[in-house]
Parts: sequence; C-alpha cells; structure tokens
Amino acid sequence: ALITLRQLLDHAAENDYGVPAFNINNMEQGLAIMKAAAACDAPVIMQASRGARSYAGDIMLRHMIQALSEMYPDIPICMHQDHGNNEATCLSAIRHGFTSVMMDGSLHEDMKTPADFDYNVDITERVSRMAHWVGASVEGELGVLGSLETGEAAEEDGSGAVGKLSMDQLLTDPDEAVDFVKKTKVDALAIACGTSHGAYKFSSKPTGETLAMSQIAAIHAKLPDTHLVMHGSSSVPQYLQDLINKYGGEMPQTYGVPVEEIEKGIKMGVRKVNIDTDNRMALTGQFRKVAMEDPTQFDPRKFLIPAMEEMEKLVKDRFERFGTAGHA
Ligand code: G3H
Ligand code: 13P
Ligand code: NA
Ligand code: ZN
Repeated sequence: ALITLRQLLDHAAENDYGVPAFNINNMEQGLAIMKAAAACDAPVIMQASRGARSYAGDIMLRHMIQALSEMYPDIPICMHQDHGNNEATCLSAIRHGFTSVMMDGSLHEDMKTPADFDYNVDITERVSRMAHWVGASVEGELGVLGSLETGEAAEEDGSGAVGKLSMDQLLTDPDEAVDFVKKTKVDALAIACGTSHGAYKFSSKPTGETLAMSQIAAIHAKLPDTHLVMHGSSSVPQYLQDLINKYGGEMPQTYGVPVEEIEKGIKMGVRKVNIDTDNRMALTGQFRKVAMEDPTQFDPRKFLIPAMEEMEKLVKDRFERFGTAGHA
C-alpha cells in the first residue's frame, strides 16, 4: 500500500530506525528495491527527481509505483518527490500520486543560487499548507549541501560546483532550524552537515572536520520531534569503485559517507537517508563487467539481471544496517 512519509517516519522514530530513500527512474531499480524490501521485510521510500520524472514520464512512474505495490502488497511504499524546486513541481507530483514532496527552498528555482531564510520559509510554508490539505507529507531543507573541505556547494545532481559558500550556509544552524520548522510545519527536515550529491564527496575518509555529524546531534537536541533527513548519503563503496575500474571504468579514487557514520546519525534522530549514487554504481559496475567478459552479448537482460542483483545486495545491506529490516 502507498503511505505517506509522515506515517513511515513516525513509525521509524517510535522504533528507533532509519529508512533509506532510494532514487528511481526505471523499472529495474524499482524491481531491485522491492525484491530487497520483501527479503528484509522493510518499508520503502522511493523518490524521483525532476530529472527522473522527465526521463520516465509521470504517467509511467505513477503506474510503475502502482504495479510495484500490487506485486508486493505487504510492503508499505512512500513515493516522494526529491528536490522539488517550486510549488508547481510539488503540486504536479501530488497529482501524479506521490504521497510526499520535498520543497527544496535552500536554493532558488534554478537549483543553483542559494536562497535566503525568508524565501525558503515562504515557499516551503506554502507547499506545506497545500500538501497537508490533500494528505501528503512535506520535506524541507535548511542549509546548502556542499563540501566543508573546499567550501564548494555541489549541484543537486552532483554534476558540478555552484560556487563558494560560507561555513554557516554549509552547516544548518540549530536555532534557525527550530524557527524554520515552527513556521513551515514540515514533516521532515533535510540538514546540511558536509555531505554533497554524487560520487565525489570527500578526497579522503571523512573526519569530524569534513563530516559534521555533531551538528545533527545539536539540531536533534533542539528539535527532538522533527524527522531529520541526510542527503548525499551514498557511501561510494570501494568494492564498487574497484568493480567499475576493473572493467574499463575510470573513476578517480573517492570517498563517500561511511555507513557507520549514518548508523550514528540514526541514533541522533536521522530518519530518512537519501541514496542514489551507490545504486547507480552497482548497476554500472555489472554493465561494464558483462560488456567486457562477454563482448558478443547484445541481450539487455543479460546486463540488467546481474545489475539488479548487485543493486539488490546493496539495498538489502542498507535496510539491515539502518534497522529498517523487519518493520514492514
Ligand atoms: O538529488 C540528486 C539525485 O541523485 C537525483 O539526481 O537529478 O540526476 O536524477 P538526478
Ligand atoms: P547521493 O548522490 O549521495 O546518492 O545522494 C542522493 C540524494 O541526496 C538525493 O536527494
Ligand atoms: Na528528498
Ligand atoms: Zn538530495
């Protein structure tokens, strides 16, 4: 059945677990996530970016989620808009059956220019009012994702830097967070603590300086009843970098968010953990392996089946380590 983010994260908070939110844009990702969820008995958050919606089409996505929930009737699914950039994006997501939306007012509509607090409050509050009337949930974001190493904000899709930011933009302020939640009435709040989108988050294993998990504890202390969200939470596992590079890839060495840091975050009030890059890498690693090991192969299923299996393994691991397993 389809459920809202509020329903799911309230349950997660009551039972002290976190929920990975996996980005999807195609059927194979949906199948891999649901297979893993059924094996672990875990509730699911699937999210589509604006790019995913235009790639698959809203009608296709709507029916795909419907199909997945019919195939797995015992697994609760929240369908969430990732990084909505304005009211129209959030409204059309809800009209297409999404049960939850993110209004990302930390940036302007172009998703490049950092926005000020008043702009963010204003647009998020309007989306929140509209969504709550029709029973959908809302995630807001306060603080801009970006590297504490370089001071660069990373673009929403991890494709490049948007420019230098100050430390107080890159770290969500706990007092501002209290004010923001009170004014906007969001169900969940995405915070900035040094993570960024894409594969290139840290140039070495993150430390307390580059990944400020302590900021999360400080926010949670002042906002104990707000569900916190960590974006940019792929761990960019070494084994997937190695798999890609072994079979002709050229990904430079990079470091993501260690899963043990996310586990700490969940103890400090993180309830939703956004993951896209890791699954992209799982799929791509197996595509490359099949392409190199069997160059005569041209049946896409021969690429997609091992790719889905690799993704399923990763998704299961996150359900287990975040404590989501067993809660469906
Ligand atoms: O927010 C970032 C997600 O990884 C979505 O990326 O815009 O390329 O679909 P995308
Ligand atoms: P990653 O790029 O770390 O997977 O983050 C995804 C994300 O935050 C989507 O909103
Ligand atoms: Na989101
Ligand atoms: Zn994100």
